[in-house]
Amino acid sequence: MQAIIDLRSDTVTEPTEAMRRAMAQAKVGDDYYGEDPTIKRLEAFAAEILGKEAGLFVTSGTMGNLVSIMTHTQRSDGVIMEENAHCYHNENGNTAVIAGVLPLPVPGKLGVIHPESVVDNMRGSEVLHSRTRLICIENTHNVAGGTVWPLADLISIREVADRFNLAIHIDGARVFNAAVALGVAPAKIANFGDSVTFCLTKGLGCPYGSLIAGDSEFIIEARRNRQMVGGGLRQGGVVAAAGIVALESMIKRLAEDHNNAKALANGLVELGLKVDLEAVQSNMVYVELSGSSKISPVELVQQLRKDGIWINTPFKSRMRFVTHYGVEEKHITYTLKAIERALSN
Ligand SMILES: Cc1ncc(COP(=O)(O)O)c(C=O)c1O
Repeated sequence: MQAIIDLRSDTVTEPTEAMRRAMAQAKVGDDYYGEDPTIKRLEAFAAEILGKEAGLFVTSGTMGNLVSIMTHTQRSDGVIMEENAHCYHNENGNTAVIAGVLPLPVPGKLGVIHPESVVDNMRGSEVLHSRTRLICIENTHNVAGGTVWPLADLISIREVADRFNLAIHIDGARVFNAAVALGVAPAKIANFGDSVTFCLTKGLGCPYGSLIAGDSEFIIEARRNRQMVGGGLRQGGVVAAAGIVALESMIKRLAEDHNNAKALANGLVELGLKVDLEAVQSNMVYVELSGSSKISPVELVQQLRKDGIWINTPFKSRMRFVTHYGVEEKHITYTLKAIERALSN
């Protein structure tokens, strides 16, 4: 097999031919004046799919989360987030440094926050404490395994948020994976959040951009906050055009990525590797290479590179494989054979 099989992340996907054509032909204008028709269409389309009043195009998931958090809070407010959440660990402390809020990390089970953790972190009346204002939930949850919040847990977190008058922001970088995994409309999930961020650049295959969706007033404020962090987009319709194609044609096919991830996970278990199959719910597979394995995680990654299979450097003994557009069933079979060879050498 010649081509590289890149299983490092779904962010490595490249635009489809249809996206490239749409980008070349995109009608544009200056977004600052509200005159880019393609951005406006994308924002309206994203809002419609998520059942919200309005949308806002931003450069990235990181910017989407930051702007959403800034819009929900005031400086010194407390924000509950799962302890392995992307917006806690992987956004370079931006919520603390730029939004000026206090992250309140809480443990999760497969990425899901228990309502009790919200109750335990409620602060507000005393002069000593940050006022808890917001819960951020991540769906699907990356580090937990690409795990999906069950609807029952979304109902419970909404109930506790309403009880304490808290807003919910959904880091839905991969919310369409969650919807496809549950077999529900994306709006059903988004309905539990006051705001949602999703990425065009992951399983949906776009080269650029994320969106925030929420009610109209929220999005007006979010636009001001986007300006504050330098996110004005001018003739961004050139890239927004790919997003419209993605929302029209790239959501349903995520099911293929999920099937490929399951096949990979089952194959790895058959090879004697440790995979928590309960956590394999969307397009990710995490493998734990224990000390007793004949090959170290780093050696395995190096060996697979020689076979044209790319995996990220493992975190300690934990390796992640991500399936996405461009990775097919035959690539999974090839990868499993390569791993089998590496383990038997
Ligand atoms: C769950 C989650 N949220 C947010 C982001 C940030 O997205 P971006 O890379 O577009 O900033 C990522 C990126 O991998 C992610 O996995």
